Amino acid sequence: MAARFFEGQEHAALYQKYRPLSPAEIHNLILNYLQRKKGKPFSLAVDVGCGSGQSSRELAPFFEKVVGIDVSEAQIEEAKKMGGLDNVSYRLGLAEQLEFEDSSVDLVIAGTSAHWFDMERFMKEVDRVLKPKGCMALYCYQAPFELHYKGCSENLTQIVQEMFKTLVPYESEKRQIVRNEYKEVFDAITFSDKERVDNIPFKRQVSISCAIGFIKSLSYYQTFQKKDPEAAKASLERTEQKLLQAMGVSSSDTMLEMKLNAFCLLASKPE
Ligand SMILES: C[S@@+](CC[C@H](N)C(=O)[O-])C[C@H]1O[C@@H](n2cnc3c(N)ncnc32)[C@H](O)[C@@H]1O
Repeated sequence: MAARFFEGQEHAALYQKYRPLSPAEIHNLILNYLQRKKGKPFSLAVDVGCGSGQSSRELAPFFEKVVGIDVSEAQIEEAKKMGGLDNVSYRLGLAEQLEFEDSSVDLVIAGTSAHWFDMERFMKEVDRVLKPKGCMALYCYQAPFELHYKGCSENLTQIVQEMFKTLVPYESEKRQIVRNEYKEVFDAITFSDKERVDNIPFKRQVSISCAIGFIKSLSYYQTFQKKDPEAAKASLERTEQKLLQAMGVSSSDTMLEMKLNAFCLLASKPE
């Protein structure tokens, strides 16, 4: 049974607003891998657990067609609202039941999603829908992130780490898969041609509000909010105040650098 999170409209809207984290660094790595293993043409990419479509849109220039699928109706609604790209479409669907023809897909990609899937069933579907030499790429990044601003980066990162500590009791068991950097996911990949790339750093310029919004969009913050709305709100407000104070600024629109560390699993179907 697939894990059901990210279902609420409000959560999906938060996701769209604060999680534009589809790093070009990772996409370039994946596209180079696909070029090396299968080569062109790049006809169809399927973005599984596409959320509000960040990755799907980034892939659009490189494929004839990109289809984003997600189990959450609210996420698909948010993705559709973005519109604007003729070769990208979104539909409701399950990772464990990919509604594509046998041997029809060049790339199956899942960004910060694979830990939610039933890997055994997902892998069977990936094996079925990929073309020979077609590729699968599963990436994710670690939390907490680092924050950098003038001379107080260490202090800011510590404030974020403290906030994340308060979220630990609200993490689902799926978070452990991320903490283990997808070791179980890697083991569950049935293609013998597989590799992993670790420590892919990437940065974003964000406002303090965006950094706070990012935390708010996490599934485990959402669980905290459901269980204890007042404590969750107060904890986030405290974090925001501490960041403002440490930076010596009064506006949450002040920009700073958010630094994350990603990892990516790559695999290719036999010929
Ligand atoms: C953390 S979000 C990632 C969204 C997007 N890929 C990104 O990089 O921002 C995880 C997404 O996976 C979806 N999801 C979880 N389990 C799924 C499943 N079994 N099949 C399809 N989508 C699933 C959730 O609804 C959610 O939108």
